[in-house]
Amino acid sequence: MLRQDAPMKMVVMVSGGGTNLQAIIDSIKNGQITNAEIAGVISNNKNAYALKRAEENGIPGRCVSPKDYASRKEFNEKLLETVEAFSPDLVVLAGFLVVIPPAMIERYRNRMINIHPSLIPSFCGKGYYGLKVHEAALARGVKVVGATVHFVDEGTDTGPIILQKAVEVQQGDTPEILQRRVMEQAEWKILPRAIDLIANGKVQVVENRTIIEEEDAL
Ligand code: GRF
Repeated sequence: MLRQDAPMKMVVMVSGGGTNLQAIIDSIKNGQITNAEIAGVISNNKNAYALKRAEENGIPGRCVSPKDYASRKEFNEKLLETVEAFSPDLVVLAGFLVVIPPAMIERYRNRMINIHPSLIPSFCGKGYYGLKVHEAALARGVKVVGATVHFVDEGTDTGPIILQKAVEVQQGDTPEILQRRVMEQAEWKILPRAIDLIANGKVQVVENRTIIEEEDAL
């Protein structure tokens, strides 16, 4: 459990638009997240709009792209080094599409979280990312979807679940429409909420589960 006097320092890792990053920034500004600050934003893609959001908000941004390294090993080392340079208490994967190096998982066990756009264990694991999750949900014809915030372990979407929120599927949904609704109604709410809970020492991991203190309705 993280409990500290200074604000919790976060590194947010992104690959694309950064709407989840924006939700975190906004929640810090409006007081929905307390006791936390974003020390830096790391992207694997130099054109990610998320980096622009960081810049506009005076947050240091870094790009570490696999394309710039001769081997995966070198990239992994550089990625971990870039994270470590910010000395974060919490690493937040907010739409980060690169496989996390095992050394980083070990280093940040129960201190690294991810947002996944489904109700785990549905539509998760290898190959389920981005629009593919929503395409699969519509193809299966489920009536309820949602999002999950979880700690990151060695598996794909297998770590301890922190928060989940359900969202209804509507007639005529396309993957894009559903993706947007899941973001608006679930992701942008539960990711900041999970960060606030962690920053205030309210999340405990016991084996592969979490115990949340004082969870209010979302
Ligand atoms: C979100 O749907 C998130 O759940 C997924 O990637 C997307 C990132 O969107 N892992 P954004 O970059 O935060 O806008």
